[in-house]
Amino acid sequence: MKKIGILTGGGDCPGLNSVIRAVVRYAIKEGYRVVGIKNGWKGLIECDTVDLSLATVSGILPKGGTIIGTSRTNPYKKEGAVEKVKENYKKLGLEALIAIGGEDTLGVAAKLCVEGLNIVGAPKTIDNDISCTDVTFGFDTAINIATEAIDRLHTTAESHNRIMVVEVMGRHAGWIALEAGIAGGADVILIPEVPIDLIEVCDLLKKRHARGKSFSIVVVAEGAKFKEGTMVLQEEKLDQFGHVRLGGIGHILGDEIEKNTGYETRVTVLGHIQRGGTPTAFDRVLGTRFGVKAMELVLKKDYGKMAALEGNKVSAVPLKAAVSELKTVDMELYDIAKIFFG
Ligand code: F6P
Repeated sequence: MKKIGILTGGGDCPGLNSVIRAVVRYAIKEGYRVVGIKNGWKGLIECDTVDLSLATVSGILPKGGTIIGTSRTNPYKKEGAVEKVKENYKKLGLEALIAIGGEDTLGVAAKLCVEGLNIVGAPKTIDNDISCTDVTFGFDTAINIATEAIDRLHTTAESHNRIMVVEVMGRHAGWIALEAGIAGGADVILIPEVPIDLIEVCDLLKKRHARGKSFSIVVVAEGAKFKEGTMVLQEEKLDQFGHVRLGGIGHILGDEIEKNTGYETRVTVLGHIQRGGTPTAFDRVLGTRFGVKAMELVLKKDYGKMAALEGNKVSAVPLKAAVSELKTVDMELYDIAKIFFG
């Protein structure tokens, strides 16, 4: 019986299980056996797997996270790990592997393709920063969670006449801050792509207060930095993909705003709340479409490709192109958001 593997790597996001379910359902229909590689690339290094049957994927569509686990393991950062990956791929008798992940996981997939493994990818991340696809699954759920949080913060901000700073995720790209900020009617949105000008932020808030508003909402992406500053880190230690742990810009910004405006300010950090829980209908549908596309590519033996959304169509793009650079925010959309600042 033909066999394929599937793995999920990097930070989890809502919608991963819909891709797994779609691949398993379609693959079994086509006469394949599906092996889940546990905890991303770590599972392929250690040959840690689980058989995925129709029963295993039953009822997982509304479930957040990933039923096969994930990790930030990079085989290219561990002596002998790439050889282990190739060895275990062979040992498991895989015809192909479907890798579901963001820039890091898909970056490894692209390299392994060059080394001769048959891999196709599906793009996930709440950050929405993968190139060659209009959107990644997980993003829609994250912006809905962040928008609801902003709505809730609005009412308490108004009651107390306060500034509310909301820190959202977004390492190198401010998609979550931008779209949740627009949807939630934020008064200032700060993103990694545009350095923060503190004087300008405080002036916007003062102007808003001068026209009779006694409260404001400021949305800031975790990766945003002050002009002439660096990113605010929780931890300097690098992970296996060279990333530091971000977080903390919200509190620094909140202190500065209170000091410079005199307005009482509170800070909320949404953190992993944005990554947990049940996916929206949009993410379930997109995940399902990506899973079906990935399996279609396996059936056609069209390896080295990634499922992508282009307009309303799901297409296949070269993995290499998708991981060559990050997709930062559309500045036209940022200009629209700016109309509502202050
Ligand atoms: O998956 C992307 C992301 O959510 C980033 O926005 C964030 O910086 C990072 O993951 C957090 O990762 P971890 O789960 O390792 O704390």
